[in-house]
Amino acid sequence: MKKVMLVFGTRPEAIKMCPLVNEFKKSEVFKTIVCVTGQHRQMLDQVLKTFQVVPDYDLSIMKNGQTLFDITTNILNSIKEVLEKEKPDVCLVHGDTSTTFVTALACFYLQIPVGHVEAGLRTYNIYSPYPEEFNRQAVGIISKFNFAPTKLSKQHLLNEGKNPDSIYVTGNTVIDAMQHTVVDNYQHPELDWVGDDRMIFITAHRRENLGQPMHNMFRAIRRVLDEHPDVKAIYPIHMNPIVRKAAEEELSDCKQIHIIEPIEVFDCHNFEARCFLCLTDSGGIQEECPSYGKPVLVMRDTTERPEGVEAGTLKLVGTNEDTIYEWFTRLLDDKEEYNKMAHAANPYGDGHACERIVNILEKCELLNQGCGKVES
Ligand code: UD1
Ligand code: UDP
Repeated sequence: MKKVMLVFGTRPEAIKMCPLVNEFKKSEVFKTIVCVTGQHRQMLDQVLKTFQVVPDYDLSIMKNGQTLFDITTNILNSIKEVLEKEKPDVCLVHGDTSTTFVTALACFYLQIPVGHVEAGLRTYNIYSPYPEEFNRQAVGIISKFNFAPTKLSKQHLLNEGKNPDSIYVTGNTVIDAMQHTVVDNYQHPELDWVGDDRMIFITAHRRENLGQPMHNMFRAIRRVLDEHPDVKAIYPIHMNPIVRKAAEEELSDCKQIHIIEPIEVFDCHNFEARCFLCLTDSGGIQEECPSYGKPVLVMRDTTERPEGVEAGTLKLVGTNEDTIYEWFTRLLDDKEEYNKMAHAANPYGDGHACERIVNILEKCELLNQGCGKVES
């Protein structure tokens, strides 16, 4: 049997890789090994539990207030042993986190072929998002198999001179995960609290937004809520203590917002599907909300998901307080403007990305020739 190893470490990677793990487990060609870096702890474990994935290896590297140096060196030092022991024929990484980049780098050092899931997303500004744009470009240099979610992401890779035979448009595996999450009869105490008011769904965590930009976002949100008593906001807050401190400073005495602990992905998708609109700097939420026809104000200067902007459901509003305030107000008060954005669009695939990735690798000649070489 061939051996595939899937490595991931943060919540969004887990949400998009666990469905793929479960698909590989059905394969008669591959033995599946799961290694988590534990770059996230509680937020990763929550997803593993939801998808009932039990890792074979857990590098448990997370520490509070970790720097990019901490994450990079701790993963690089601890994953070598796992890769050398397992000698996978192919190692799959996802997206653009430090786990992704460092795992790909370790595979390169050991000459293990890398498959990049969610390949080819680009802003072409390596400081935005930071460090994700660098991470995904760097993985693109190393990867032997590129699973691009859309035609546009494939085109980026072609423009960069990647071998066309290494690129497969599969759709995004998050759409696979979303097939089973949103249900009609969903209930939650937070939704009871919102009642008939309009519900705003909020998340924020990006490294480049920590500090002033995040304060700007929260102040804008606060001003709009103060002026709209018929609006309530639910904000499952990221576990980063810097994010929590900023939210505490700006929002703690606002009665129209509930700041809650991270919610399970099942709840998250059901909240998204029921919100009036979403304010976020998240990557994944930009892919999910368009499917539900929910407008998203993206509180970032760049996006690697222009498909959603093109489809009309995402609006890039940056991190200036007044700009966020104006757009948020406009969507609440101007029905026409709201309706322009509120329509379902799903540029990210048909929910069969995992099957495609498994099929492609099962039939791959390169793997049959045994190119999973590990230096001794
Ligand atoms: C990471 C990724 C980012 C991704 C995001 C998803 C990098 C550099 N960043 O950013 O690309 O969009 O995850 O959420 O790879 N913490 C906990 N428990 C957890 C998770 C985080 O306590 O389960 C706290 C810790 O104090 C940790 C801090 O949050 O030090 C930041 O975590 P880190 O993974 O460094 O950065 P993220 O902002 O989560
Ligand atoms: N999500 C979740 N619980 C939460 C907040 C988000 O399950 O409390 C999910 C969300 O549905 C999406 C993913 O986490 O699939 C986005 O993760 P995050 O915003 O942390 O990272 P990014 O996508 O920006 O890398």
